[in-house]
Amino acid sequence: MARILSGIKPTGNLTLGNYIGALKHFKDFQDSGEVYIFIADLHALTLPIDPEFLRNNIRDLAAFYLASGLDPKKATIFTQSSVPEHAELNAILQNYLYMGELSRMTQFKEKSKNMKDSAIGLGLFAYPVLMAADIVLYDADIVPVGEDQIQHVEITRDVVNRINKRYGKDTLVLPNYKINKVGARIMSLSDPTVKMSKSDPKGDIFLRDDMKTVRKKIMSAVTDLGSEVKYDKENKPGISNLLTIYASIKEVSIEEAEAHFVGYRYGDFKREVADAVVAELELFQQRYQQIIDSKEYLPVLREGAARAKLIASKTLKRVQNAVGLLDIDND
Ligand code: TYM
Repeated sequence: MARILSGIKPTGNLTLGNYIGALKHFKDFQDSGEVYIFIADLHALTLPIDPEFLRNNIRDLAAFYLASGLDPKKATIFTQSSVPEHAELNAILQNYLYMGELSRMTQFKEKSKNMKDSAIGLGLFAYPVLMAADIVLYDADIVPVGEDQIQHVEITRDVVNRINKRYGKDTLVLPNYKINKVGARIMSLSDPTVKMSKSDPKGDIFLRDDMKTVRKKIMSAVTDLGSEVKYDKENKPGISNLLTIYASIKEVSIEEAEAHFVGYRYGDFKREVADAVVAELELFQQRYQQIIDSKEYLPVLREGAARAKLIASKTLKRVQNAVGLLDIDND
């Protein structure tokens, strides 16, 4: 049975991009594979963050996971920091990834571009090392992510190949990323040439926005010249982004979405996109609120941590043995 692993950073309000590119699809794997979904809370510390804000984001994310339809009986849901093996494997793997390749990571370059060297934490630079540890710790075969995380899965593959070449081919499992055909990169509604992101609030829809705001944001989304609702990323980035959002939410292809909107004017098109998003988010938010109020995420996270540890500790032992650390219980 394939092992699937993914995570989200609790660094702020989750966006519709996070939802469409990742969160919405995690549940799709839980009937056919063994699913591990975690809250990347250690990763959230790579840029300054207020402790209370972080704690609330972690609660929110746990509730979002459950509201998305992940079933804790089928999927293991946990926080990264509750499984110390992540940090322990990180300490080993950091010796097999190099300064040059880490400094070429797009995410690092983007996040650090306006920072002085003296303010860039080591954790931000070494981010992909911990992410590689997250993935290989569970012998993950498939890592469902949005487009912006492909590079990090690729560097994980590099380190896996490096380690297996040196210590034997069965030391680590080589993961593959999986991105959605539609919706792997949702763009900002106010500037459809840049990605929708938690750290860039303008033009983004947040999963906790009220429905009036969601509607307003979609109705005032930047559109393009012309009047035809057509997918053309180059010349109609705004319309293409809205079509992508619609197709992802409705779970239809871009072609089907285009066919549906033949003859529509931009305004009516946007109204229907807004209807689709609101219908989905309204239900999602109701479930989220119930979970937050009942605190049912807590036992889920506790049990998830225990289950995750079973797998993680085995992998860590295997790597420790492979690299030559003495097993003091079994020497
Ligand atoms: P994060 O928290 O930035 O984003 C969570 C997921 O959302 C996807 N995503 C998007 N998809 C489509 N359109 C967008 N505009 C958009 N913005 C974000 C991301 O690609 C991601 O899948 N490094 C990861 C967290 C992580 C992780 C891991 C993921 C840590 N360890 C191990 C997988 C496996 C991150 O920062 O995602």
